[in-house]
Amino acid sequence: MTSTYDELLSRLRVGFDAVAPGADPVLRPSEHADYQANGVMAVAKALGRPPREVATEVVAHLDLGDLAAVEVAGPGFLNLRLSADYLSRRLLALLEDPTLGIERARESRRVVIDYSAPNVAKEMHVGHLRSTVIGDALVRLHRLVGHTVIARNHVGDWGTPFGMLIEHLLELGEDRAIAELSIGDLNAFYQGARASFDAAEEFRERSRARVVMLQRGDPETRRLWRILVDQSVAYFSEVYAKLDVLLSPDDVWGESAYNDYLEGVVADLDALGLLVESDGARCVFPEGFVGRDGEPQPLIVQKNDGGFGYAATDLAAVRDRVFGLEADEILYVVGTPQAQHFAMVFAAAREAGWLPERVHCEHVAFGHVLGPDRKMFKTRSGETVKLVALVDEAVERAEAGLVERGADLTPDERGELAGQIARAAIKYADLSTERQRDYVFDLDRMLAFEGDTGPYLQYAHARLRSILRRAGDAAVPDRLALAEPAERDLALGLLALPEAVASALEGSAPHRLCTHLFDFAQRLTAFYEACPVLSAEGEVRDERLALCRLAARTLALGLGALGIDAPERM
Ligand code: ARG
Repeated sequence: MTSTYDELLSRLRVGFDAVAPGADPVLRPSEHADYQANGVMAVAKALGRPPREVATEVVAHLDLGDLAAVEVAGPGFLNLRLSADYLSRRLLALLEDPTLGIERARESRRVVIDYSAPNVAKEMHVGHLRSTVIGDALVRLHRLVGHTVIARNHVGDWGTPFGMLIEHLLELGEDRAIAELSIGDLNAFYQGARASFDAAEEFRERSRARVVMLQRGDPETRRLWRILVDQSVAYFSEVYAKLDVLLSPDDVWGESAYNDYLEGVVADLDALGLLVESDGARCVFPEGFVGRDGEPQPLIVQKNDGGFGYAATDLAAVRDRVFGLEADEILYVVGTPQAQHFAMVFAAAREAGWLPERVHCEHVAFGHVLGPDRKMFKTRSGETVKLVALVDEAVERAEAGLVERGADLTPDERGELAGQIARAAIKYADLSTERQRDYVFDLDRMLAFEGDTGPYLQYAHARLRSILRRAGDAAVPDRLALAEPAERDLALGLLALPEAVASALEGSAPHRLCTHLFDFAQRLTAFYEACPVLSAEGEVRDERLALCRLAARTLALGLGALGIDAPERM
């Protein structure tokens, strides 16, 4: 079912094309009407004609059928008001439509999403929380419109620290090391390794020798490395389960997965004449990257000791994603500090011909999570905050909140609901912030049932479900009259869901869907104030219940696309 927005847009195009072929109608939701087309201004300017005259001419060529009434407003805006017949027809169709007007994409794309990517034997921090939550929402949104998503969890499982980590494992003894890692005490393990490394030259020697053995594929060293990887991945999976994200161990495609291709990357770059030796390191100098001193910036592919770095792995990964996975699109959900790295990797890959023009490649960057003092989020002793500890604390507080509210639930039900509320709080706070911006991690605000929060939206949904339960069976009306302005406003919100999803996808911007859902919940509040539902009678009651059904489904579907549950009761 074509969305209202797309339907209006295609009809407007006909009018604009008649005056200025190819002109963009610039269609937007509006405060002054239902929608507004602002494209006349640009056309008038280009043609050197008065805007109102152009507007009148566009209108003369429009065929809006019974969809909407149009009116020229102000200097030359086109105000559009949807007709009562159209609204009623549309709502009745939505009642029958499982995806509430969200269409499948015209062409289904293969989208590789690189997200989460914690590091083996290192605690997951809030940066990984953001990557995981945003990545998960992008996975769900793409699937919702029929794209094929391939998740890639590019965990840091290779590199020089592994010499030290393996030696520390031996120092602790395998059993103790496994015990420490399996309870998720990754910080302690890593710091123990660091301490030994800093304390003794003899340990440093062994660590360096161990890295060489690891790289040469010594079987015993590989076995010990496997322990570190497997234990860490098992721990990450527990965190993913607590967060209810879709990642599984099958999606883990760590840095080490590309080891066999690194020599080839270097050889091929060399053959293409892109490799330059600089201070003993082998580098690519992609065009357009200069440092502050005006000197070209190197992307180091192979270090002067012969080791391969982060960039080499990412170049190998791009090739695999483009030619092996046949990706049409690759998204990297990684923090803003890595912007330069990705820009250079993409540029180098394009120059090498490994990233054809048709493949859209994007660094989906995000800002920092701040502590209450608005500085980087750290524990009082300056350590990384353990992600699980945050989730557990959110669950505890949510549960305490339910007890305080005197919610009528068995302990099991209460535990489950507390988990759902806690996840909603954490995920929504993250997703509703424009992703490039920083935000303060404040559990009290995130968990509140009022304001722009996940639990508030869940509550709005549960309230609708409660009304619908109490109402029992109701007839589906033949027509929705929308006599009250609050009913009409709610209906417009229902119709705008597909646009919100499309725009969230377009900008890899889940916050746009959040904004829409929050706005929608406010329309609901206005609706309850003006329009009693259960105490209404006859057709008015049926109509309002139909609106409630659609509203509940809208919230559940929208929250679901963000990875947030919509519980039946709260
Ligand atoms: N492991 C890295 C980190 O913790 C993130 C990896 C991101 N993905 C990538 N393809 N480089 O910062």
